[in-house]
Amino acid sequence: MNEFSHIPVLLNEVLKEFRDSKGTIIDATLGLGGHSFALLEENKDINIIGIDKDIEAITLAKERLKKNSDRLEVVHSNFSNGIKEILSKNNNITGILADIGISSYQVDNLSRGFSFYSDNLDMRMDLDSHITAKMIINSYSKDELHRIFTEYGEIKNPIPVTKMILDYRKNHTINTAKELSQLIESNSKISSRIHPATLVFQALRIEVNDELGELKRFLKNIENIKNVKVAIISFHSLEDRIVKERFRAWAKSCICSDDTIKCICGNNYKKGDILSKKPIIPSQNEIRLNKRSRSAKMRCFRFYE
Ligand SMILES: C[S@@+](CC[C@H](N)C(=O)[O-])C[C@H]1O[C@@H](n2cnc3c(N)ncnc32)[C@H](O)[C@@H]1O
Repeated sequence: MNEFSHIPVLLNEVLKEFRDSKGTIIDATLGLGGHSFALLEENKDINIIGIDKDIEAITLAKERLKKNSDRLEVVHSNFSNGIKEILSKNNNITGILADIGISSYQVDNLSRGFSFYSDNLDMRMDLDSHITAKMIINSYSKDELHRIFTEYGEIKNPIPVTKMILDYRKNHTINTAKELSQLIESNSKISSRIHPATLVFQALRIEVNDELGELKRFLKNIENIKNVKVAIISFHSLEDRIVKERFRAWAKSCICSDDTIKCICGNNYKKGDILSKKPIIPSQNEIRLNKRSRSAKMRCFRFYE
């Protein structure tokens, strides 16, 4: 597999959303440039500013997009800060796309430590950041592990897996993703379609990259833009819930608290419209061609002028 065989999810649906756009679109998760490549090829009226915190992804994306480099600017940053900076300098932004989570490149590249079979236990999207999965799994207290396994892994009963890790840690350092996934697998009593370490790995990845915090700050930093279409693709319910709730809040005219009997806010706070009443999901055909797309959900919002 070469790095460009990464298939962008919901590609036709993304192209459709931005088909009539003009001006500048921000691709907040440039990744390997799959969506940006197709957008630039299809719509000659747009420029793209791409953000990614993964410097390796940026190098590959620039190579892929070099044909259209005159219509591309790339920013190496996390998207919450990156978007703030870009919005403060540009007044011609007409669209924002975010395809959040990790790329196939990050999962398939064993040195990055996202895979169950990796000899590394890293999971950083931003290679300049200082927190790795290895640090977390070997140093977090019982309560901290409980918290991330419950909140980010959505593990109903995190006690057994936490205890197993703490017991193992008495005599060993957990050095690799392979060692951690095998430890969990060998102690797992439940047979399931998914790897028994999936939720622990999800929790670690979210904690290492502060994924939910980043998404919340990103949404906060775009909430006062005007005349911009936003499309956000997420891959698990924790992210999708954050996006859904923010879009609902932006579409509400009255911001009085639920227990207010008569509106006192002025009833004039609606920022725009939710364009996707239900999330846009991949077709059966897309899922057949790209299994990783199966949990993708895209939600769209249009901010008023
Ligand atoms: C699913 S991939 C995007 C793939 C891209 N749409 C494509 O077609 O190639 C997600 C990318 O977003 C980046 N990313 C995730 N969270 C980020 C954040 N908070 N700030 C900046 N980049 C982030 C990851 O490093 C990864 O490269």
